[in-house]
Amino acid sequence: MPKKTVFNFLEMKGKGEKITYLTAYDFPMASFIEKAGIDMILVGDSAGMVVHGLKGTVPMTMDQMVLHSQAVRRGAPNTFVIGDMPFLSYQISAQDAIYNAGRFYKEADVDAIKLEGGRRVIPQIEGIVNSGMSVMGHIGLTPQSSGQLGGFKAQGRTAETAMEVVKDALAIEKAGAFALLLEAVPPEVGDIITKTLKIPVLGIGAGMYTDGQVLIIGDMLGYFEAFTPKFVKKYANLAEIIVKAFTEYAEDVRTGKFPEEKHCYRMIEGELEKLEALLKQKPPGNLPGRQE
Ligand code: KIV
Repeated sequence: MPKKTVFNFLEMKGKGEKITYLTAYDFPMASFIEKAGIDMILVGDSAGMVVHGLKGTVPMTMDQMVLHSQAVRRGAPNTFVIGDMPFLSYQISAQDAIYNAGRFYKEADVDAIKLEGGRRVIPQIEGIVNSGMSVMGHIGLTPQSSGQLGGFKAQGRTAETAMEVVKDALAIEKAGAFALLLEAVPPEVGDIITKTLKIPVLGIGAGMYTDGQVLIIGDMLGYFEAFTPKFVKKYANLAEIIVKAFTEYAEDVRTGKFPEEKHCYRMIEGELEKLEALLKQKPPGNLPGRQE
């Protein structure tokens, strides 16, 4: 299947075809996602929690995000890959934002970048778009500023706060973003924004009416165990499978059940005798003395 483009996503919205979207941080997972025919991959700064064991996303750096994006691109050469701009890579100025978005493009060959924030990051979105790159906005619950939001909490649950989310969505579309990610808002708000915007709206915890859905793979595969948000559906319990495999391996090593004959590279016939003779003639100086 050829790689989808921003125009394909627009068409999908027009036809009411749902867009599928997952996060990935490394080569193997990206290759499995591509095999499953998922439309888009986000190299999310959720890597901070899911991969690096941090409490949040704030400490993630550009170098780390570029490295993850390079691995994902190699694993999924035919999937639309989006690099997630980490905290302070775009907030300070539009110039920083353009430079760092460009790093994702030049060093990791991404198809788009994503950044968090509404009306306060419009100059950044415009700058990146005017430099020829594609931007996905991200509003609602924005983890990089979760401190200001009072934690990882659903947004837009009152008419007044929902109105602020709608205004942000409209501003992001006007600034030239090709799509919007809406996180942790009521389905009613997801529906209004999806119907109001021309660009595709992808939801995570934003209900069933958005143009597509994204989930964090650590959550949906059941291997990120620190916490599971209400909006997650678990499609597997990899943590259980992996811990079981590691436990069995340890038991096999301790009891001598692994490795077996079939896991060994035996010497070529006759070579062991030759080696024994060589060792007797001139034992290597630094080899510990062999016992006869
Ligand atoms: O970093 C991330 O994984 C995200 C999710 C909300 C999809 O932005």
